Amino acid sequence: MQHPALESASFSQKAQALVHELLENQQYHLFDDWDPPGVCEPEKRAFLEQLLQVNANYPGGIAGYTDNARRLLAQSRQGLNPFEGYRPEQPDAVDLSAMDGIYDQMESVGQAHFDRTGVVLVAGGLGERLGHNGIKLDLPVEAILNTSYLAHYADCLLAMEARMATPKPVPFVIMVSEDTHAPTLRALEDHNYYGLRQDQVHILKQELVPALQDNEARLAKEGPYALILKPHGHGDVHMLLQSSGLAAQLHAQGIEHLVFIQDTNGQVFNALPAALGVSIEREYDFNSLAVNRVPGEAVGGLARLVKDDHEMTLNIEYNQLDPLLRATINPEGDVPGANGFSVFPGNINILVIRLASYVKVLEKSKGIIAEFVNPKYADEARTEFNKPARLETMMQDLPKLLGPEHKVGVTVFHRAWCFSPNKNNVEEAAKKHAAGSPPESAATAESDFYLAGRMKAERAGMEIHAEAPQTILGVPFVNGPRVLLRPSFAMTLAEAREKIGGGQLSGPSTLILDGPDIRLRDVRLEAGAALRVHAVPGAKVTIQGRLSGPPGFVLTKLSSEELAAPDTPSALKMRGYRFVDQGVKALRFDRPGEYQVDLATLYTDPPELS
Ligand code: UTP
Repeated sequence: MQHPALESASFSQKAQALVHELLENQQYHLFDDWDPPGVCEPEKRAFLEQLLQVNANYPGGIAGYTDNARRLLAQSRQGLNPFEGYRPEQPDAVDLSAMDGIYDQMESVGQAHFDRTGVVLVAGGLGERLGHNGIKLDLPVEAILNTSYLAHYADCLLAMEARMATPKPVPFVIMVSEDTHAPTLRALEDHNYYGLRQDQVHILKQELVPALQDNEARLAKEGPYALILKPHGHGDVHMLLQSSGLAAQLHAQGIEHLVFIQDTNGQVFNALPAALGVSIEREYDFNSLAVNRVPGEAVGGLARLVKDDHEMTLNIEYNQLDPLLRATINPEGDVPGANGFSVFPGNINILVIRLASYVKVLEKSKGIIAEFVNPKYADEARTEFNKPARLETMMQDLPKLLGPEHKVGVTVFHRAWCFSPNKNNVEEAAKKHAAGSPPESAATAESDFYLAGRMKAERAGMEIHAEAPQTILGVPFVNGPRVLLRPSFAMTLAEAREKIGGGQLSGPSTLILDGPDIRLRDVRLEAGAALRVHAVPGAKVTIQGRLSGPPGFVLTKLSSEELAAPDTPSALKMRGYRFVDQGVKALRFDRPGEYQVDLATLYTDPPELS
């Protein structure tokens, strides 16, 4: 087959062979708007290069991609139920949401395993819903210290290392995409890898896939000489861990579990030790972290699906779960269980995978995860798309590749303890809040980050008097107390308990502790007082006493002028507020030694005050 636009053009043999294949494969339209031969030759060559690249990136090439797309688009058009014939059951789950004795036990098992654990961060997403012009990893988790997500994760890895009997760097795999690769690398390089060793960081880059303009899987273009490319989803991480040889390499180095995390979830490391403990104790090959979920809530439910002699524990999107339940086990759909929550816990997409089984599954499957397509149709007959669609994969679908020999389970945590991402811009977040859904915005992520800190302090015997929530730009925010226990201070609940002896925090006070050898004895912060302690390892600092104002960090809402001003940082605009330091009491101990501080004396005799 030939296309008139290509006649008399001289392209490489490889390009010609691909063009021929594309013409045979219903992609004739790709060349319809080409200029006549002799015009725009460099652009044409660049376009063919792009096609060759896309063809090489996908296992099976463009033809493989469009074959898969046609099959999935036909199923989507017919509205076929992907779980036809499966009966949902309660998954095998360990509920740690009460954070009681069993929690401590699991945490201690997990902590002893830090030296055999690697962390995989999927950070290839565009963050379209957030609308931030930059990578999400660069955004601050909180607006007091302005610690970025990436810096925070690096601090957590360093804190894990410091708690090993024989410290060694925790392998840190970051999956980036074309959109996030350069800025992620720049963030690492500009900050000296945030204290990590360069060789403990492994960057894997996922490739974009072509967008599809219709049910025939014709590739979508922008202008005559460019394909529209889009991310293929975080499921690519499995393929890349296989094709790079990294999963096998880490396994050979003695790593036993990989923990998969996302780009904006400041709390994730709170749950990591106990989740690891559960994976070890229960011998789970695949452990999904989850939260209690109210029936009908817009978060995917984890269920065991059983059909004849086949079963798999999977995340089911909430809009598919209720109809599936109604059609199978309960005409009332998703109803509360004994504890008031759905028996299908809410998936938060934090995974703990046993490397020994993972490596074998990857070898067999090449890490290719089940793809899906989710076109937004423009008409009832589902013949036209509102915007180009693409095939996607999700990392939590790995259990589809597992067999009966694998053990898949779920560990349920208290929600604020382990999960509060920043995904939505403030307008969307306000709409979600008004509709009763979690806003998942910068402000709520920050508010929950302090809440998780308060939970640690409270469980360590501190009395907490929290502020009532206020609404800023339509999004709820609790202004305190703000508890920032840096990972260097405590990586586990047990550690926080050992280091914080009672005390009280009230109102918009702020407590920041950074350093492994700080101890608090009945510390009381009132009237907005802010205490910040930084102590190097070996600086054994014991702090006691009461700090009653003056206010330290004061929440100040942005004016409408500031919100509109182009030079207001986007990290503040997405919050609608900033913190103004009006007098934090900052104590810095840069040398090892023994130090006793009575906060009452800070007003008169502040020897270490900076
Ligand atoms: P999100 O659901 O937050 O999606 O991804 P997103 O693509 O980043 O944001 P929107 O949908 O455009 O607003 C969950 C996690 O998966 C990663 C993201 O970086 C985030 O950590 N991800 C997503 C990838 O690594 N690759 C992808 O192709 C998509």
